[in-house]
Amino acid sequence: MDKRVERFSAPERLTHWLVALCYLYAALSGLALWSRAMWWLAPVTGGGENLRAWHPVAGAVFAVVLAVQFRRWAAQMKIDADDRRWLAASPRYAMHDETGVPESGRFNAGQKMLFWLQSSSAVVLFATGIVLWFPESMPRAARLASILLHPLAAVASMGGIIVHIYMTTIVVQGALHAMTRGYVSQAWARSHHAKWYRQLSDR
Ligand code: HEM
Repeated sequence: MDKRVERFSAPERLTHWLVALCYLYAALSGLALWSRAMWWLAPVTGGGENLRAWHPVAGAVFAVVLAVQFRRWAAQMKIDADDRRWLAASPRYAMHDETGVPESGRFNAGQKMLFWLQSSSAVVLFATGIVLWFPESMPRAARLASILLHPLAAVASMGGIIVHIYMTTIVVQGALHAMTRGYVSQAWARSHHAKWYRQLSDR
């Protein structure tokens, strides 16, 4: 029988799902606050005054748990020479043709790019979010810049998250199981992250 391989430890999964929960609430309530066209999201996220108060709190908790995830994974997310070749070959990978696509380590270059996009947009969201949370104590230039940059960073980050959810729930079968149960089959590890699988087997 195919043996199981641990992909994500319990603390990694707990941190990831806390990040996801806070993010989804902050994103949906933020969309409701941003545009009248999205106000239909208000009842789902707590309604009127509540969501105005809860949105920044969810954003702040998101920043804290994301920082924990960042500390845990940043060293494994460094882009190396294989990743650069993977990115160059990614159009073929997207067409399900893996010829010339280098083997991936624990995370492939696409996953690493998502990590850096989320981490950098979170820094902008957090800094501008603080300004918008306490506008009366902030200089006018910071307020104006934040009004522009907060939604821009949110849109960039949401674009990445939509791709991330699509990839992990629909395209890559078995990935969701890895993040819910923590393990994958040896065959899955070998086919999706061959370099990582070899490192595990060499231990
Ligand atoms: C409901 C929403 C989400 C779902 C269903 C989801 C699902 C997953 C799954 C299944 C994996 C494991 C992929 C693998 O085995 O390699 C994963 C990894 C990861 N997730 Fe999420 N996630 C969600 C939200 C988020 C959010 C909001 C963030 C950050 C803001 C995030 C950041 C990451 C990162 C950095 C990884 C590791 C790299 C990668 O696999 O892309 N996720 N997620």
